Parts: sequence; C-alpha cells; structure tokens
Amino acid sequence: MINAALIMNLWQFPLMACALLLSTSPSTQAQTQNSFKPGQGWPDSNGVHINAHGGGILLYDNIYYWFGEHKIEGDAGNRAQVGVHCYSSSDLYNWKDEGIVLHVSDDANSEIVKDCIIERPKVIYNGTTGIFVMWFHLEFKGKGYNTARSGVAISDRATGPYQYLGSTRSNPRIWAENAPEPDNKNQPPPNTYVRDHANGQMSRDMALFVDDDGTAYHIYSSEDNRTLQIAQLTDDYTKHNGRYVRSLVNGSNEAPAIFKHNRKYYLITSGCTMWSPNAARSFVADNIMGEWKSLGNPCRGTDQQNKTTFESQGTYILPVSGKPGACIFMADRWQPKNPIDGSYIWLPIQWEGDKPVLKWLDEWSLDFFER
Ligand code: GAL
Repeated sequence: MINAALIMNLWQFPLMACALLLSTSPSTQAQTQNSFKPGQGWPDSNGVHINAHGGGILLYDNIYYWFGEHKIEGDAGNRAQVGVHCYSSSDLYNWKDEGIVLHVSDDANSEIVKDCIIERPKVIYNGTTGIFVMWFHLEFKGKGYNTARSGVAISDRATGPYQYLGSTRSNPRIWAENAPEPDNKNQPPPNTYVRDHANGQMSRDMALFVDDDGTAYHIYSSEDNRTLQIAQLTDDYTKHNGRYVRSLVNGSNEAPAIFKHNRKYYLITSGCTMWSPNAARSFVADNIMGEWKSLGNPCRGTDQQNKTTFESQGTYILPVSGKPGACIFMADRWQPKNPIDGSYIWLPIQWEGDKPVLKWLDEWSLDFFER
C-alpha cells in the first residue's frame, strides 16, 4: 500500500517540521447562516471572517473542505506569513475553522520559509493511495514572482497537517504534446517556452482537476503568464507525468477555474492585471487537453460589473453535491492594502444555451438551483 511516508521518500525531501498551530482570536459565536452574501464579511463558526483566499474546495465523505491562503493585515499579508488555512462545512454556508494545515517554516533554508509567496492552494484526494494532495503556486522569499514554481504537500487526513514534499517547475526537458521541439529554438525572438525547456516550465496561477476516470490535471499560467499549460499528474497526484499541452497560446489568462458539464469541459479565467479585477473569459472544450474555444465574457451585469467580474477574480468552480449540474463560481475580491479584508464572491453558474454565465445576486441560497 502506498502511504504518505513512501511518497515522501520518493520525493527525497526532508520532512518539514510542524510549526505551532495558529491561534485565531474568536469573537462571539456566529449565527447559523442559510444564504450566501457575495462580497460581505463571512463569519466562520467562531464569528471570525473566513481567511482562505485564492481557495478551492474538496468534497470528501460528505464534508466540504475549503483550503485557501491565510492573509494578515498590511502589505506583508500579500506574502505567506502563516500558511494554508482550512475550514469544513456540511452545508456550504456554515464553516468550522480547522486551523492552519500547512505552515510556513521558520527555517531560513526552507523553500516555504515565512515571507515566501504561497498562492491558490488546491487539494485533491487520491482514492487509490488514500492520500490528500495539495498543490500551490510557490514563489521563493525575496524573489518577487520570478520563481514561478508549484509546491506539493500531502496528508493522510483532509484537515492535515500537510507535509511539504518540495517544489517543481513543470516538465523539465519535455516538449508539450502540441508543440514539439521548434527548429529555430536558438533564434530570436526569445520564447519562454523554449527558454524554460531545460529547467521546466513556469507555473503561477493554478487549478487542479480530477476527471471521472481518476486522471488528475494541473492547469497553470505559464510562459510569463502568456499561455496556459495543462499537464497530467502521475497516478499518485504528486508529480507531473510528462504529458502536457500549451493552451490558449499568448491569450494571457490567469486564475483558471475549471468544471465539467454534460461531458464538456469549461474554463473561466481572468486577464493579467495583478490584484486589480478585469473581465473574465470563458472557454469550452470536448477534451481537457484542448482545443479550447472562446465563449467570451461570462458576466451578465452592468458594464462596470462585466469589466471587473463583479470586482473579483475567479479561484474555483464548485460542483454542489446532490444537485446534478449545479456549480458555484468562487472568486476573490482582493484587498491588497489590507489583504485579510479580502471578501468572497460566490455566484451560481447559470446557462444561456450552452454558455455558462454569471449574474450578480446580493443574497442567494442553494434553493436557487431548484428553480
Ligand atoms: C494576480 C493573481 C494572484 C496574485 C496577484 C499578484 O493576477 O491572480 O493570485 O498572484 O496577481 O499581483
């Protein structure tokens, strides 16, 4: 049987020492909630605003687990000072604080030393190994956004603690299936795809997706954010397996969020304007490895809402358990001056024919999907 220890040996990285659990400051007990209020404060079961930005959700054993970036006040909150925060819920409205499940390290030699950048953590469960696998965008401390690597951590339990395995650029020395070795690779103009062939492709904003056959994919902004790459993972989900494609080449897509509906794959992405919101884009494909076809801006609101994706940037698309076809678009309304204040925009995916669309709702509940 494959277990966490074996996977760590395979990675040949030392175990990360567990840091102290973060103590949050609980305020009054929160009221039970029965609706989503996009953009408003969202108290957890201790009455504290949920702190899981750039997040994603895993459904395991009828419980939802929300993993996201723990942010703090002030500019330093744009970098990882604490780690990855997890919450659990059985109804999607009320979230219990499960604490920090991957801690930044105090060891200056650690890749995930405090003040590095850990963004957009996503967790998937591997039914064969029984291991929860977390991937995230990692930037080494003090290097801005130049590192462009993926970090991987694993746990035997959804709520961690997760043990850091190490980080990787994507698929070093392997050409993409749809972009074989170019004849003119030594000729200008410089091409990041060719430049990064030896050391591995860049990966920044990212999503994970497990298909119905159990194959897992890593979808990430690569090539200096100009091109998305879609890479298959190994059977244990902890590495790339060498199969990948370049998608939406030179389309400058970030914040990829993916879901499957009626056997088709849908992507909602953003453009590249850092913390400032921009217009979302949507795409459809018959095969996850492409070709992806544009469906335009999915937002159906005022001009200002459409230009800014309701002042937010996507992070994940959540299929609702027990409601076939029901999916929730999850996004972040970033507050880079005081990142802990960032709020969450959750809106139901609606359909205009075969196009997924998003409309603003001040308040809504899962009954929306019964209409
Ligand atoms: C955004 C990206 C965020 C974060 C930010 C930094 O475009 O989606 O995850 O990296 O840039 O400016």
